[in-house]
Amino acid sequence: MELDKALSSRRSIRHFSDVPVEWSKIVKILEAGSLAPSSGNVQNWRFIIVTDKSLKQEIVDACLEQEWMSEASVFIVVLSDNVMIEKLYDKRGKEFYAVQNCAAAIENMLLEITQLGLGSCWVGAFEEQALKRILNIPDFVSVQAILPIGYPAENPPEPMHYSLETTCFFESYGNKIKDIDAVLWNFNVVGNAVKITKNLAERIKKRINKATGKKN
Ligand SMILES: Cc1cc2nc3c(=O)[nH]c(=O)nc-3n(C[C@H](O)[C@H](O)[C@H](O)COP(=O)(O)O)c2cc1C
Repeated sequence: MELDKALSSRRSIRHFSDVPVEWSKIVKILEAGSLAPSSGNVQNWRFIIVTDKSLKQEIVDACLEQEWMSEASVFIVVLSDNVMIEKLYDKRGKEFYAVQNCAAAIENMLLEITQLGLGSCWVGAFEEQALKRILNIPDFVSVQAILPIGYPAENPPEPMHYSLETTCFFESYGNKIKDIDAVLWNFNVVGNAVKITKNLAERIKKRINKATGKKN
């Protein structure tokens, strides 16, 4: 599958068939996660693979009882080992890079899951202390996410995505016009008759900059 196809077809899947996921596919997913970038290449992610039914149910209970999860044949619990990252980057390492590195690994895994014809959903709603107790996770390790994985038994529609016009700015926050001169140069002020001059365009630009707090 092409990357573009995996990006556009990935969905959060919350219903799974009872066909078990092949071990070779789990390995591919874990390898994809391990290829993610990480601050200082510290690779703080750790993974627990859970297939035991009663253990999975305990995890479901610790995830605010999201019962749909139990249909998945395997869970990958994504953890961060914070020892090295804290040593290298102090508070910023533990609180910021640790989370971002694991998020990069998780997205890699979700794309690999899609490519393999499997489905999953990023689960971030959980009681961390409960999971630590259930899975015997030490203090220096934090829980980042759970990925319940299985063969999809649903085909959800594409969720709403904001357009780039909403999410992107040029040169400074809030500026949605890349080149104000290009926009205004041929702009007719009065019923198609009066072409505004470059001078007027300049004045309008200054006003917009003033209103948006941008320096002229
Ligand atoms: C950090 C994070 C935490 C999430 N936690 C949950 C969760 O606990 N339960 C759930 O059903 N979905 C969870 N989701 C999935 C989102 O609801 C989903 O990604 C979003 O609605 C967009 O849908 P899509 O993944 O199909 O594009 C989480 C997603 C992210 C990125």
